[in-house]
Amino acid sequence: MRIFKNKTDLIAYVDTLKSKKKTIGFVPTMGALHQGHASLINTGLSENDITVVSIFVNPTQFDNQEDLVKYPRTLDDDVELLMAISEEKIIVYAPTVEDIYGGNVASASFSFNGLEHEMEGRFREGHFDGVGTVVKRLFEIVRPDKAYFGEKDFQQLMIIKTLVENYDIPVKVIGCKIHRAKDGLAMSSRNARLKSEYREAAPFIYKTLKIAKEQFGTKSAIKVTEWVTQQFAEHNLLDLEYFIIADIKTLKTVKRKSNKKSYRAFIAVYADDIRLIDNIALN
Ligand code: PAF
Repeated sequence: MRIFKNKTDLIAYVDTLKSKKKTIGFVPTMGALHQGHASLINTGLSENDITVVSIFVNPTQFDNQEDLVKYPRTLDDDVELLMAISEEKIIVYAPTVEDIYGGNVASASFSFNGLEHEMEGRFREGHFDGVGTVVKRLFEIVRPDKAYFGEKDFQQLMIIKTLVENYDIPVKVIGCKIHRAKDGLAMSSRNARLKSEYREAAPFIYKTLKIAKEQFGTKSAIKVTEWVTQQFAEHNLLDLEYFIIADIKTLKTVKRKSNKKSYRAFIAVYADDIRLIDNIALN
């Protein structure tokens, strides 16, 4: 498997792929790879000649330094997982912070048509400027035909689609379904850090989302939100940060339901000091 640590070598290699008319899929990650990533990569492999997987814990998208320091870094295991998928058709780009940012580890400032002010944007200051900065740079280096993002980070997916439109970046952004553990917990690199009692409690998040979806058929968004808030108030391990039912296009909280619009419920929960997010399509 080819593993690139610096962009100059990767850019030269991508040039040779492009001169041979090879199509390139791209799965950007922060490592600690799991089956959710594997499913994105497999989709990439089925639709492209080569799939580039970047592994880079991007410092500028963390609003919390402790979260950045504790974020799992498991490059050897990640490479092992990738080798088992395909040694030949996957290329790894695992840059240093210096390779991506040079001497200036800072975000650019973006406008994503207001999407950046909702949910994660409200609770994690500067997060989407950091994501926008790194993904735009990675797109410039990798120059993929298609890029794959999980719907677990649905807001991120919408923001990347907006980034590509606003900057005319020639890549097709593809959203992939949320990959869940058997007990329903959405796959996340952070799950590995959950202590066992919190890991056992965490499927409550998806269970609650599924009931909220049922309720949304007959009840108002406000009533469903009140019910979910009450469920977490009574839970002694999981702390609700937000539960929001939003229009999938604007990501604004729904006030009055309309049959013509599509909605999703979004949730962020603390399990001890680990922040977990999830979402579900409602109609
Ligand atoms: O979803 C992630 O893992 C990150 O936000 C991404 C897209 C790799 C950018 O750092």
